[in-house]
Amino acid sequence: MAVETVLGEVAHGGHVVARIDGKVTFVTGGLPGERVEVEVTERGKRFDRGHVTSVLEAHAERVTPPCPIAGLCGGCDWQHAGPGLQRELKRRVVAEQLQRLAGIEWDGEVEEVGPVWHWRTRMHYRVADGEPGLLAARSHTVVPLPEEGCRIAVTPRPEVPAGASELRVVDAASGHEEFVPGKAGGRVITERADGRDHRLAADGFWQVHPRAADVLVDAVVRSLQPGEGERAVDLYCGVGLFAGALA
Ligand SMILES: C[S@@+](CC[C@H](N)C(=O)[O-])C[C@H]1O[C@@H](n2cnc3c(N)ncnc32)[C@H](O)[C@@H]1O
Repeated sequence: MAVETVLGEVAHGGHVVARIDGKVTFVTGGLPGERVEVEVTERGKRFDRGHVTSVLEAHAERVTPPCPIAGLCGGCDWQHAGPGLQRELKRRVVAEQLQRLAGIEWDGEVEEVGPVWHWRTRMHYRVADGEPGLLAARSHTVVPLPEEGCRIAVTPRPEVPAGASELRVVDAASGHEEFVPGKAGGRVITERADGRDHRLAADGFWQVHPRAADVLVDAVVRSLQPGEGERAVDLYCGVGLFAGALA
């Protein structure tokens, strides 16, 4: 049964917070300030989860999602928001996290790092009836890809090998790789950032947007302004992106 409510502030993970019968409810598919109908999909001790089933008063920057499976697939959280509003929502999430976790007041901006379509270099496709798809949010249900494939993936629609139930696709600087998860077979790929080559396992971590590694290294080095003789600890360093740049 759907409940009418006015949505509050944005929260992490594509949610907007609502209070339904006094209880905090994390709602997907909505935008702050919208009057909507929400179906509560999960009840928890501290909070519930729900999804917008009908928009009664839309945000001025609500748009029709470009992808026909947006909202069904668990991948893109904000395709129903225009690009400027997406950046503003992300700004608010970062500002709130910094304020709440670290007591830091941040008034920076979230900037676009293009390209905004077909940028995602790591994909984990699932297969249903021989066709590639992606998982629905918080579910094991496979949502089949639309005809044009995934609009954020570098490889929008992979060929699925006969009998495969999953397929990982990695579009590294050194080339295109496809393998069944857990069976990368010791392949090594090369990615380039900060003017250096980084060699890592094909199924190892690398920033998924092709410009992210450089943008993040630049931000870290500019903010830290490291000096000779100083020591830094790169926690959760992966292949050592930041340690390498600082060194
Ligand atoms: C989000 S990635 C970031 C990597 C790197 N800073 C970068 O930007 O390329 C986090 C990394 O931490 C590693 N990691 C997660 N938990 C870990 C643990 N308990 N001990 C060591 N490494 C861990 C992951 O395998 C991954 O390589």
